[in-house]
Amino acid sequence: ETVEYAAESYDLGGHDTYMHKEISEQADAVDRALRGRIDDRFSTVHLGGLNLDAREARTIRRVKILGCGTSYHAGQIGAQMIEELARIPSDAEPASEFRYRDPVVDPDTLYVAVSQSGETYDVLAAVQELKRKGARVLGLVNVVGSAIARETDGGIYVHAGPEVCVVSTKCFTNMVVSFALLALHLGRIRDLSVADGKRIIEGLRKLPGQIDEILKGEDEIKKLAARYADAKSMMFIGRVRGYPVAREASLKLKEVSYIHAEAYPASELKHGPLALIEPAMPTVAIVPDDDLLEKNRAALEEIKARSGRILAVAHQDQEKADDTILVPKNEPELDPILMGIPLQLLAYHTALALGRDIDKPRNLAKSVTVE
Ligand code: AGP
Repeated sequence: ETVEYAAESYDLGGHDTYMHKEISEQADAVDRALRGRIDDRFSTVHLGGLNLDAREARTIRRVKILGCGTSYHAGQIGAQMIEELARIPSDAEPASEFRYRDPVVDPDTLYVAVSQSGETYDVLAAVQELKRKGARVLGLVNVVGSAIARETDGGIYVHAGPEVCVVSTKCFTNMVVSFALLALHLGRIRDLSVADGKRIIEGLRKLPGQIDEILKGEDEIKKLAARYADAKSMMFIGRVRGYPVAREASLKLKEVSYIHAEAYPASELKHGPLALIEPAMPTVAIVPDDDLLEKNRAALEEIKARSGRILAVAHQDQEKADDTILVPKNEPELDPILMGIPLQLLAYHTALALGRDIDKPRNLAKSVTVE
């Protein structure tokens, strides 16, 4: 598979930073990830490089996703999608931890290595160790022809295009979309109905337009960022589908603004972190209109009762929140794709307000090719 990007795709193209440019490009990037892959006739997707036939796909008993940082968070969402749509027990783990704990390598497990650069040493080393033990490893990679793309048995290119900013944004979104494609593909080979396949495809097709709609709210998010930029620390909460979104948003804020942030499942607040809540520690809450809406609202009430400020990312206004960023509704399984995007802008504008070096945060490198 060959994809060439014109030299212009590396230009700032009128943006002040690559981070801003890359956030703004996400509708096109998602469109690229979907292009040529949807098969309406069978309500599924074609993933040309997967190298996994239907018979093999049916024998998979577990999926284990390995990545680092933002890619690991994309993998956490991917694992949930595969469990929900394909009903295969799945989880994600930091590649660096996996390779040092002498894992049991199971022949019925499908391993997926996820990486933007395709060169992250810990991920590559995990792939090599798995291959040595005879495991089947797929890659979910952005950079075509990179080391991880070459060492895996097959995989999916996420087609985000070149990502220059050290802080990953559009690639994260495209990784999650690619996981949705993999989940749909595995699901339709197994027990996902035609109707559900169709529903997810319709949802995927809506994404680029909805991403543009979110990006149009940038001025509002910029104002919110100015309001929260004085925080010394922030709490990010979500439940089930919203939890990895909270983790990724918290990492984004830390990396680019240097504001300390914690991410917790909202259900864990009462087991400790609630002690941190006070007016100087605002909470960002992911509140989709899903089965957990009432549970999430109860968490907002607990925070409010301790005088915590709340910024909600939600499908509808949240009474207990001081501010709400509204996100358009899609299929519940695809909520994590859209819910993270306004929080990329929040991290960006917070960093801008604080005068940070946005494209090259201190102490960080774009690809970590050492241990
Ligand atoms: C993302 O914002 C980070 N800078 C970092 O966590 C990154 O996702 C991680 O180092 C993994 O990189 P990769 O996707 O190129 O493997």
